[in-house]
Amino acid sequence: MDNRPIGFFDSGLGGLTCIPYLMRRLPEEKIIYFGDTARTPYGSKAIRTIKGFSMEIADFLVKSNVKMIVIACNTVSATCVDDLRLKFPNIPILGIIEPTARQVAAECDASKNVGIIGTKVTIASHAYKDMIQELNSTLDIKENACPAFVPLIEEGIIDNDIMDLTIKYYMDQFVKDNALDTIVLGCTHYPLIKKNIERIYPELNIVNPSSIIVDRIEEILRDGNMFANGSDFRNVFFASDLSENFLNMIDHIFAEEADDAKVKFLNFDLEKELMNRGRNQ
Ligand code: DGL
Repeated sequence: MDNRPIGFFDSGLGGLTCIPYLMRRLPEEKIIYFGDTARTPYGSKAIRTIKGFSMEIADFLVKSNVKMIVIACNTVSATCVDDLRLKFPNIPILGIIEPTARQVAAECDASKNVGIIGTKVTIASHAYKDMIQELNSTLDIKENACPAFVPLIEEGIIDNDIMDLTIKYYMDQFVKDNALDTIVLGCTHYPLIKKNIERIYPELNIVNPSSIIVDRIEEILRDGNMFANGSDFRNVFFASDLSENFLNMIDHIFAEEADDAKVKFLNFDLEKELMNRGRNQ
């Protein structure tokens, strides 16, 4: 048994799309979430910048005594998992790409036409494509970056024509030219526009990594005998810039959750906190 919380992080609110799945599957587990809203998006930044940000956040989570770190961000998972594991060898660190790649490789055969959508950095890394094809070389994987999705989602521009047009702008040609039947939402922000994508492309089978990752979390906790049981820790969600947009999106993400699953949100100055901790060490 291990009653310490699980640490999640993302460049912003995207990683929150994993949390309702975790709360429903493993209701005893507690959470510390960090959304780097002040510095989002990561998906168009240089890899060394993303690494620097991720190291700071992982350091904060480790010092907050989490039992596991879940990288609820495809962009970080595509570029920084190995560095993070090297820097923090004593804690399980789970990226979001690996469990999804395993599922796609196991469930799809050569008759399927699979497409990955994600940020520029995730797509340029070919992390999904390489991992899926390593596990199932019969699959031909197509990839497409959709860099305008995240800024629109962070702004809460979802249920309207602007988002629908943007989806069509990136996806019409991609889906048609490759005769896609399966699409992987390779960015944790994208489940927030899953309904739009379903409406526009009703024939597509949509793979949602934010739900798949919970299977792997459960496995790691089971293997390590680390399930929580009766912890009185209260879930806490930090944002490096707790804006009104962010709070509105929280309501959207947790709209279907029971009231007792609602959470507290705190504005958090990561830079100041790290400086203070550094000084006190
Ligand atoms: N939610 C993130 C991902 O899964 C990153 C989005 C961004 O900051 O660009 O890739």
